[in-house]
Amino acid sequence: MTYQNPRMQTRIARVGSELIGDTPLFELARVGSGSRLLLKMEQLNPTGSCKVRMAREMILAAERDGLLKPGGQIVESSSGNTGTGLAFIAIERGYRFIAVVDNNASRAKLSAMKALGAELRFVGGQKSDTASTVERMRVASEIAATEGAFWPDQHHNPNNNLGYVGLATELHRDLGDDLKYLVGAVGTGGTLCGTVKELRRLGSSVVSIGVEPAGSIIFGGAPHQHWQTGAGAPAGFCVGPNVDHTLIDEELTVRDIDAFATARTVTRRTGFLVGGTAGMAIYVALRRLPLLKPGSTIVVLACDAGEKYLDTVYNDDWLEARQLLSTSAHHRIERIFEAYRDSVRMADFDLEEAIPSRRVS
Ligand SMILES: Cc1ncc(COP(=O)(O)O)c(C=O)c1O
Repeated sequence: MTYQNPRMQTRIARVGSELIGDTPLFELARVGSGSRLLLKMEQLNPTGSCKVRMAREMILAAERDGLLKPGGQIVESSSGNTGTGLAFIAIERGYRFIAVVDNNASRAKLSAMKALGAELRFVGGQKSDTASTVERMRVASEIAATEGAFWPDQHHNPNNNLGYVGLATELHRDLGDDLKYLVGAVGTGGTLCGTVKELRRLGSSVVSIGVEPAGSIIFGGAPHQHWQTGAGAPAGFCVGPNVDHTLIDEELTVRDIDAFATARTVTRRTGFLVGGTAGMAIYVALRRLPLLKPGSTIVVLACDAGEKYLDTVYNDDWLEARQLLSTSAHHRIERIFEAYRDSVRMADFDLEEAIPSRRVS
């Protein structure tokens, strides 16, 4: 099938945010039963992530509510993608943006925010290498109070989740009732819960699967060190209402070693550099695929691009230093892809065999 990108057919964008959304679907795998795994390529949004959808929604809502005045400033705590999205929207709408960050964020994300004109304020000092989500939020609220900046507070802002109405609309338009399962990484909860809420409103009976890194506490597991950024939350973090457990049918965790091996394997097979959280969600979907009712479609929300993780997920030295480089984990994922390809060949073979025998009878 030739994919036609609606944005190319219709118009020339006059402002960058017009290019948000309408991301394509890509078939990553198929099994002999006819079930398929599709990636919703959110990394093809401006800023390379789905989070620009919610950044726009939160800023437009703040303008409507009178919380942001022309020339005003915005402050937000971010591991990078929300911050890059807000920096992008701030340029377009004429605001100053302060990103509260820590050294756990990837260098590429920090550099991108800086390149987009954001002011970076580090918590834990420039040298700290620990995730400090709780401290970041405290500092963001302090800057809002003392410097008069608007703090969207992505963990509690309902416009985060509302930013994904468009994503749900696109999935419903492109797949309708074929969409049976949706898998997404969970951090603030906005991407998965916002999308599922709107899909259900549109009449979809999609089964939703939320995924977080093993060691994160959102789904109630025991906290321990993990290296995935964007999704998950550390010990001591108070999970906000944008994680709506009533909208997540299954809540699963994935080890970093499996998530990163999956991301790297997918990249080698497809040529698309996928992000670490996409690897985590793909790992779940890949294992689930052969167990689904024949002919099912499972969609993974691929939240961002691997270009942001060249110094981490795609850097052997970085992985090795954290004991996350595993040849056997890579082989396991490779074998899954090979087995699925064989199952499709076998199904086609069975079909060819069946045709002459049907003719005879
Ligand atoms: C790469 C990546 N994946 C997943 C998520 C989780 O998305 P959400 O916060 O909407 O749950 C984020 C959030 O920042 C992210 O940056």
